[in-house]
Amino acid sequence: MEPCRLDELKRWFDAYTSRFFGQDEYVNMHLRLKQEHTRRTCEEILYLAGRLALDDNQTRIAKAVALLHDVGRFPQFANYRTYNDTRSVNHGCLGVDVLHRECVLEALEPEERRWIETAVARHGRKSLSTDLNGPALLFLKLIRDADKLDIYRIVADVYRRRAEDPAGLSFEIELPDEPRITPDVLDAVLAGRLIEHASLRTLNDVRLCQIGWVYDMNFAASLERLKAGGLLEELFGYLPRDEKMQQVRRRVLEYVDSRLFDTTVPRDCIPDPNARKG
Ligand SMILES: [Fe+2]
Repeated sequence: MEPCRLDELKRWFDAYTSRFFGQDEYVNMHLRLKQEHTRRTCEEILYLAGRLALDDNQTRIAKAVALLHDVGRFPQFANYRTYNDTRSVNHGCLGVDVLHRECVLEALEPEERRWIETAVARHGRKSLSTDLNGPALLFLKLIRDADKLDIYRIVADVYRRRAEDPAGLSFEIELPDEPRITPDVLDAVLAGRLIEHASLRTLNDVRLCQIGWVYDMNFAASLERLKAGGLLEELFGYLPRDEKMQQVRRRVLEYVDSRLFDTTVPRDCIPDPNARKG
């Protein structure tokens, strides 16, 4: 990808997303939050690209993925007034539809276009795809980590404001804010298993589920950044402090520490030199 292509993508993104702003301040506010999330996700992915020593072209593609990963969020919110995919549409697939409809990636090499589309389509899935390898897998892993790093920051911010002002604005938090924690959710985090969203019953379950994302982080650099930001500790601060939770906290923090020392690109993300091109 030539550097000018990335500049074109940025211009297109700004023009496209600005189309959805209008009279409705509720919609505008949510769209603005997604623009800011996109900007910060681009920063996170650039950081990870640097830590993984990606080359200039890989870094540009990674940045394009971060720029476009949530493009489907704009028509989604404008049409349905929700970011809940279950109650509207899958925003990753909608994002790829938008890229096709607007002919956004047509000037790119076909394989680069495919890597970007795959990452956009699959970034929000519950777990990492098992049918990918090489660059397609690398870019998907990068966006899933960069996205989560910013979402951790967003949810910590929401919980902080909620703790200061419980009656204030809450962003689509629909589960009861009570001390109860569902045993299945707790057990899943203790065992390092991903949690089914359908099993979440309370806001504390949601917090614990978000803490459990550490098991889904792909790169040591991501976990290091998460730890350095103090966000995990902050999330634990909103949970009960009983013995069981202390056990979860120790388990999660030990897990993070155990993964901190591997800063290489995983082998399954390195292109196979014998693979057929195209
Ligand atoms: Fe997303």
